[in-house]
Amino acid sequence: MKRVLITGAAGEIGTRLRALLKPVYPQLVISDVRRPTDLRANETFAQVDLADAPAVDELCRGIDGIVHLGGKSIEGTWDEILQSNIIGCYNLFEGARKAGVKRIIFASSNHSVGFHERESKISGDVVPRPDSRYGVSKLFGEGLGSLYAYKHGIGVTSLRIGNFADAPIDVRRLSIWLRPDDLVRLIRIGLERPGIVYEVLYGISDNDRAWFDNSRAVELGYAPEGRSEPYAEAVIAAEPKEGKSPVAEHYQGGTFCAAEYSADFDTIKKSH
Ligand SMILES: NC(=O)c1ccc[n+]([C@@H]2O[C@H](COP(=O)([O-])OP(=O)(O)OC[C@H]3O[C@@H](n4cnc5c(N)ncnc54)[C@H](O)[C@@H]3O)[C@@H](O)[C@H]2O)c1
Repeated sequence: MKRVLITGAAGEIGTRLRALLKPVYPQLVISDVRRPTDLRANETFAQVDLADAPAVDELCRGIDGIVHLGGKSIEGTWDEILQSNIIGCYNLFEGARKAGVKRIIFASSNHSVGFHERESKISGDVVPRPDSRYGVSKLFGEGLGSLYAYKHGIGVTSLRIGNFADAPIDVRRLSIWLRPDDLVRLIRIGLERPGIVYEVLYGISDNDRAWFDNSRAVELGYAPEGRSEPYAEAVIAAEPKEGKSPVAEHYQGGTFCAAEYSADFDTIKKSH
């Protein structure tokens, strides 16, 4: 991997990854629809809207591997999701195919499977249960990843990221926390490990309370160093005890499941 592109580089994860990946991939190219406020002189930046197909084609030229973070990163209107996460994601995979890109990391999300219950532990091949339009768009990206892997030979890794942060800040995040250096470990597996065709892995650290079975990532060499358990006592003590939505508390996707909820929860719960 010589020339690696990060999309969504002005965002929360992208901003951290720029610094963490630059020593690993010195020819790093970064892109976003908005200019990062902290752009450094040694960074190669391209301001591109992912919805602009010719511009995305141009962006992908000469690139070996892509870390695709760009897009709407929370629930949005259908039009917002459509432009950035559906059309934008399609343009990215198409641009990559035309340019002969070898590997892609797709930033998927736990919200692609958010309607699984907290009581269950799910692996990468579980039936998807998206909890939002955002979650549906992540499944679309995973689908594109699989299509371009098996049909066009791009090695694709979809990372269902839990919550990227320096520390887990609430009880839900004790289960889904991802420390930044562990994300780098996962990205390096997806970009560098020989033989990757298509993988769905969970973007989490080594959390005792994990809802995700990440044994496939471990098989591929993932050795996370972050552990949420040492934070558990303080996080549990600080958690508000009241005012929580039963829907949010029942499912892995939390408040994304409860937002706009209009089903009869008791009936649905009985059907599980
Ligand atoms: N932060 C997390 O814990 C987390 C969890 C699960 C998944 N993810 C996924 O990881 C990725 C990065 O997350 P983040 O927290 O850094 O999000 P973020 O919102 O901070 O960054 C996303 C970036 O994408 C850019 N973007 C949006 N639409 C675009 C478009 N049409 N063209 C070009 N750029 C566009 C935005 O300008 C922004 O800088 C997202 O795809 C998100 O869905 C993040």
